[in-house]
Amino acid sequence: MKKTIVFLAGDGIGPEVARAAVTVLREAAHEFHHQFEFAEFPIGGAAIDAAGIPLPNPTLDACRKADAVFLGAVGGPKWDSLPVGKRPESGLLALRPESGLLALRQGMGLYVNVRPVKLLEPLRGISPLKADRLGDLDLEIVRELAGGMYFGERGNVVENGVERAFDTESYSTSEIERIATFAFARAESRSRRVCSVDKANVLASSQLWRRTVAAMSAAYPGIRLEHMYVDNAAMQLTLRPSQFDVILTTNMFGDILSDAAAALAGSIGVIPSASFGSSAPLFEPIHGSAPSLAGTDTANPIGSILSVAMMLRDAFGLSLEADWVEQSLLRVLSGGYRTPDIAEPGARTLSGSAFTEMLREEMQRTLEHAERYGWGV
Ligand code: IPM
Ligand code: MG
Repeated sequence: MKKTIVFLAGDGIGPEVARAAVTVLREAAHEFHHQFEFAEFPIGGAAIDAAGIPLPNPTLDACRKADAVFLGAVGGPKWDSLPVGKRPESGLLALRPESGLLALRQGMGLYVNVRPVKLLEPLRGISPLKADRLGDLDLEIVRELAGGMYFGERGNVVENGVERAFDTESYSTSEIERIATFAFARAESRSRRVCSVDKANVLASSQLWRRTVAAMSAAYPGIRLEHMYVDNAAMQLTLRPSQFDVILTTNMFGDILSDAAAALAGSIGVIPSASFGSSAPLFEPIHGSAPSLAGTDTANPIGSILSVAMMLRDAFGLSLEADWVEQSLLRVLSGGYRTPDIAEPGARTLSGSAFTEMLREEMQRTLEHAERYGWGV
């Protein structure tokens, strides 16, 4: 298989976790005789420093033409005083790094963002939830990625000498339908439950959301659909996360709930994501650029590594390779190896790069002992 993968390392720990992703992809290409070509482009603060804007045209062009895109992270204190974009498309000059990511999602037509929050069994002990509450944590947040407040009209006005700023939440029926279609399909291959999260007791956009999703459920008789207000969903995630299978929600609610859900798995550093739309799919760990960790080689590469597994499976259809990465990773964790963010007392704590190297060696062992490990058979 021949694929072109664009790498956008970005800021902070982005380049470190992107290196882990490259290592795993190289290994997969080598062992399974694929040709993966990598191309690197700047985004975020790095692009502001190099080109003056957070999403230079050559970056967007390359991403649109790629077979898949990997993104590290964007943002950092160095650029925090820059303004947010009025709208991402209205020129990206002198804007924050985060505006570059939003413009990239928009420019690539990415409207689906899937964030699987699944317990890595060896990490059960570091979850902030007691084992009986945690249960079998295995849910997916399907976050709408191209609309809502993050792309709505916004601005600042002065009224009677008082400054006011505003952002707008709005959704059309077709925007809701296309993300709900994805969520229903995703649930078909899981436990066939969708929980649609909104704030329909207050917001007009949420009322349309709920009405639209409810009307669609007739076409999916095998899927159990439930609706939940976002405030209750935040509480239920903490009280009994195992009640959820697929959570379908808006851009902003998905942003917030995915961080909350990630904490249940022990660290936001271990959660991957995949985004789909009208051009290439994009894969990124959901953690931020963690400026205080940058350059210390302590960043957790697991979110990145699991994003690569999603790329192999969901973008290239390479399930065997994806299983190989995931199973090897679980064995490294079972061996007690940890990065500092997920280390319990007595753990074998490694740097991010040493952890990745440990995984590479374990992937070799998995190939040697495929049958014993029950991989690929
Ligand atoms: C995320 C991040 C981004 C978002 C930021 C960096 C713009 O928090 O991917 O969850 O809000 O979508
Ligand atoms: Mg976020």
